[in-house]
Parts: sequence; structure tokens; C-alpha cells
Amino acid sequence: KRPAGAPDKALARKVTKVGVIGAGLMARQFALLFVRRLQVPVVITDLDQGATDAGVAAIHKEIHDLLEKGRISPDESNRLTALVTGTTNKADFADCDWVIEAIYEELEAKQNVFAEVEKFISPEAVLATNTSSLSVEQIGAKLEHPERVVGFHFFNPVAVMPLIEVVKTPHTNDETLSTAMVTAASLRKNAVITKDTPGFVVNRILAKVLGEAMHAVDTGTPFEVVEESTRPFGLPMTPFELLELVGLKVGAHVLDTHHKAFPDRFFESTNLHRLAELGHIFERDSKGKAKGIDKAALKIVKG
Ligand code: 3HC
Repeated sequence: KRPAGAPDKALARKVTKVGVIGAGLMARQFALLFVRRLQVPVVITDLDQGATDAGVAAIHKEIHDLLEKGRISPDESNRLTALVTGTTNKADFADCDWVIEAIYEELEAKQNVFAEVEKFISPEAVLATNTSSLSVEQIGAKLEHPERVVGFHFFNPVAVMPLIEVVKTPHTNDETLSTAMVTAASLRKNAVITKDTPGFVVNRILAKVLGEAMHAVDTGTPFEVVEESTRPFGLPMTPFELLELVGLKVGAHVLDTHHKAFPDRFFESTNLHRLAELGHIFERDSKGKAKGIDKAALKIVKG
């Protein structure tokens, strides 16, 4: 069945090489998914050689872990490892027909990196962004071909979460949209087409839940009480666990974007920004299992 609003599959372009801009938490996860599911070369870049090499090494390690767990054969492990390479030269993206960015959430940085890559790629190549809540149309605003821009929003952990939000701007053409839908299906994800509005669909709803949880803390309910009160809902994670999973800086940015767009409906949280500086909420044991809210985090929210 064709998903709501999806154009004809026949319009989709074949993806034969993938470029990934950014080698952080999300980029590493979806680079692995692209190489596993599409079995095509994936070239990854970050601000400098060190960050790029670290990203490639982390993906190679994930491939090795899949081999150790018996999920892939030695042959496949070797093939996938060879397909993932790093570069700091955007000219190496020239023959990519799908380029996706997951750099930090700053509009101008995303606009500039797309404009830089556009100089090298063919006019038909797709430029996809994994932005959490910035306007996809604005990210493509400096391009000669904004019709090739689409949002392609993954959820953490990428290997497990079944959804991709495909974000259509007023300029996105049917070929781009169709390529995004077919690519999502090749990645074995369910794709929905969403409007280019702050937070799209999922983060708009999450921002409500996470924002209310932080606001309760900000207005004096003890941190531990909010944490305990949200545990029995049957959700896989409490709001604070989810904030830590997506990254506290990303979470704070999502809340800020919503507050800016809809000030009467969403809160911004000074405490969340302070926690983002600390870098974590939970104390963890040597295996990474959460042991309750960290003392330093408790101190921060008490002021
Ligand atoms: N990477 C890869 N795989 C992972 C993983 C990770 N970080 N974490 C868990 N998994 C896999 C495990 O390997 C396991 O796979 P298997 O069954 O094939 O062995 C499976 O997930 C289940 O793992 P566990 O049994 O260890 O753990 P849980 O059952 O507790 O599930 C969870 C872990 C899937 C992370 C679950 O807690 C969950 O669904 N949490 C909510 C996640 C969520 O809502 N994410 C959306 C965040 S919003 C976002 O990302 C958007 C951004 O823009 C802000």
C-alpha cells in the first residue's frame, strides 16, 4: 500500500553511493544502517580528520560487534567494513546520489554545509537532513536546487526504532520524495510524510511530555518525584531517561525551538540547559546501567 501522500515509486532514483555529513551519535547509527541495508559505499565526513576517523572507527567496531554476535558472516563483515570510508574533502561526495547530514542543530551551519556539497554533486542527487526540529525549507534556502531537499528524521536507537519522518517542503519534488520513501523502505523502516512544521509530528508530541516533566522540576517538584511518577506509565523509558538517550543538548534545542514557535504552549527549561552542560542526568554502573539520578544533577536543579 502506498503511504499517504507518497508519489509513484517509479519516480525514485537509485541510490548507489551515500554521503554522510557529521560523524556523531546519530550519523554513526544511520551510516551503519545504510551500508547494511543498501550494500553501497558510504562515505562519512566531519569537521576534521580526528572526528571523521573516530566516526569511521566506531562504525567499523559496530560491524565487528555484529560479526561477534553471529548476525553477519565474516564475508559480509569484511565487505561492509570496506564500504565505509571517511574523508575531509567534500569533492569525494561527487558521485553520491544520496547525501544526508546530521551535524549540530544550527541553521546557518546546515545551510552552509549543504551549499558547499551542492557544488560537487549532480543536480539530481538528494540532500536529506536529519534535523530534529529546524525548518527543512530554511536548511535548503541557500541552494540552487531546493527541490532536491527532504527531511529524513531517524529516531534513537536507529537500529531499533521503526519510524522515519520524511519531511516535505513546498519545493521538494516528486522524484526526491519518491527516492526518500523507497530508500526508507530499503532501510526496512516505516516512513510517514510530514509537514515542515516545528518538531514535525513525533518531536512535537515528545516536546510536550519532556517539557512538562522538566517544567515540574523547574517549578519545585523534586526531580526524583517526577522520575518516580512517570515510571508506571508502561512506556519503555521515563521522560528523563529519554532526554538522556537523545542527548541533553539535542533535547534542550528541541524544547527551545518549540517554545520559540509556540510560546504559549511549550516551556523552555533553564535546568535542562544546566544539565546539558553537565552532560548526564543518571548515575551509571560500570555496565552503563542507570542507578538513579546523579548527585551533581540533583544539585543543579536545586540551584
Ligand atoms: N543501538 C542499537 N541497538 C539497541 C540499542 C542501541 N542503542 N539499544 C537497544 N538496542 C537493541 C538491543 O540490541 C536489542 O536488540 P535484540 O532484541 O535484537 O537483541 C533490543 O534493542 C532491545 O534492547 P534491550 O532488551 O536491551 O532493551 P529494552 O527492551 O529496554 O529496549 C529501547 C531499549 C529500544 C531503547 C527502549 O527502551 C525504547 O524503545 N526506548 C524509547 C526510545 C525512543 O522513544 N526513542 C525516540 C527518541 S526521540 C528521537 O530520537 C528524535 C530526536 O530528534 C530527538
